[in-house]
Amino acid sequence: MTAAQTHQLSWFDETRAGLELALASKLEQYKGPSAVLNDAMEYALLDGGKRLRAMLVFSAGHAVGTSVNDLTDAACAIEAMHAYSLVHDDLPSMDNDVLRRGKPTCHVKFGEAFALLAGDALQTAAFQWLAESVQGSVHVRMQQIAALAGASGLQGMAAGQAIDLAHVGKPMDLDALEHMHARKTGDLIKASVRMGYASNPGLSAVEKNGLEAYAHCLGLAYQVIDDILDVESTSDVLGKTSGKDALNNKPTMVSLMGLGEAKALLARLREQAFTACEVIAAPRRAPLETLVELITNRKS
Ligand code: IPE
Ligand code: IPE
Ligand code: MG
Ligand code: MG
Ligand code: MG
Repeated sequence: MTAAQTHQLSWFDETRAGLELALASKLEQYKGPSAVLNDAMEYALLDGGKRLRAMLVFSAGHAVGTSVNDLTDAACAIEAMHAYSLVHDDLPSMDNDVLRRGKPTCHVKFGEAFALLAGDALQTAAFQWLAESVQGSVHVRMQQIAALAGASGLQGMAAGQAIDLAHVGKPMDLDALEHMHARKTGDLIKASVRMGYASNPGLSAVEKNGLEAYAHCLGLAYQVIDDILDVESTSDVLGKTSGKDALNNKPTMVSLMGLGEAKALLARLREQAFTACEVIAAPRRAPLETLVELITNRKS
């Protein structure tokens, strides 16, 4: 390993460890009067998760010259939003899953009503943390809030989840599936990158377009590998139930294209993501490249 790669890894590990501390401290300050709800939120947000969305915020920020300290609130916000989406995704009325991040799902541990509420409160926490933040200008934070809201609501993740559930056991063509994946998972990945690069309002159009293209490819790749892992991996390695998509009759990249084609698509998206971030100078884009590696090679 070169000295630059070692430096990269320590930047990553330190940044991720700092984020864990920030999440724990934010949750501590945010505690409300219901002990069960506090516990359910903590259970869903802390102790687990690869934190790839938070790392995308920091890495896109690094690419445009913003320090980790100026993006911690945004990174915590995106992880809270993502954690909420997982809690609701696992509910009996959605994917009906019992295992998440190697532990019983939130509703198995705390009951359905508290899992719903924990999800609700995680979502509002995301916006509260951003709105109350003093990191970056008010204008930057308004853009981050808009990016997060746009990616999560009826034009983004909620729409993707609705399309997903409406197509259980039903045929879907590739374009429609790609659209669903882009909404379900891609938009939050895109929002992570946007929340990072929005921290530099002076960004050139070329750099911005490159980062947008990077986020688009990585966002789609994220759900393609998720579909592949669902088929190829085990529950032990994944920390969530494998084989669940076929069991639930979900249309996925693997069910539509087959495993070989899905892997070929993943390889193409990976190359496109590397190419897209070349608009950023080499030392500043290194964390973005590390994330392409981590996401497209992820085993869980
Ligand atoms: C899983 O996301 C759900 C998808 C959107 C594919 P992650 O694989 O990022 O989950 P954690 O946060 O690491 O548990
Ligand atoms: C989850 O997609 C997408 C969101 C949570 C928005 P999946 O249903 O494929 O995620 P896993 O496989 O349960 O993590
Ligand atoms: Mg789902
Ligand atoms: Mg699921
Ligand atoms: Mg999945």
